[in-house]
Amino acid sequence: MPRLGVNIDHVATLRQARGGKEPDPVWAAALAELAGADGITIHLREDRRHIQDRDLRLLRETVNVRLNLELSIDPAIIAIALETRPDQVTFVPERRAELTTEGGLDVLGHRDRVAEAVKRCLDAGLEVSLFIDPDPAQVELSAALGAQAVELHTGRYADAVAELDQTRELNALIEAGRITVASGLKLHAGHGLNYQNVGPIAQVAGMTELNIGHSIISRAVFVGLERAVREMKDCLITR
Ligand code: PXP
Repeated sequence: MPRLGVNIDHVATLRQARGGKEPDPVWAAALAELAGADGITIHLREDRRHIQDRDLRLLRETVNVRLNLELSIDPAIIAIALETRPDQVTFVPERRAELTTEGGLDVLGHRDRVAEAVKRCLDAGLEVSLFIDPDPAQVELSAALGAQAVELHTGRYADAVAELDQTRELNALIEAGRITVASGLKLHAGHGLNYQNVGPIAQVAGMTELNIGHSIISRAVFVGLERAVREMKDCLITR
């Protein structure tokens, strides 16, 4: 069964809507952990749209499971990661220019900048993951740059409506997953996963971590965060 990383950015989004103290993502992390989350994922954006520096600091002190920091390849943000030392950093695109057509980090198109970002974190002893499209060329270059993991972007799979399209996207993820594992990288996935579509992704051979935010926080509004996390964990059980 893959690890469940609960992305709590949306809790911070709600707090920022009023600019006050609540709801506090630090509380959300504690409840998610109590409910069985294997990791907490946050994205410290350059524009500080949701997660703030204070959140990262406090979460680093209080989270007992894995803390996964999503970040851009901007040197100033990397400096914050090096200082706070999350258990894992996942590089994601923030500017349109850093995106491939489907939405992952374009490692091929930004090879030198990504290589430099990966090296800075590896030299500091951080685990590095790259959020990329399920494209063999992106996987192979990620491995060549020394990343320990890739997180495959599941957005196109999640957005597919027709069964045929969904199957095609699932097959692309399975094939990119196979190349990931064969390259010696850990296999992660995320984006747009929910209680209905996560099953086949959890069963992709070699899957070790899923990062899920929107669907869990949305369900939490109605059933509470602990139940929402537990119910997602139940969906990951591979039979
Ligand atoms: N993984 C990465 C790299 C992401 O950027 C996001 C979105 O912040 C997620 C997973 C979670 O996506 P969702 O909120 O759609 O579950």
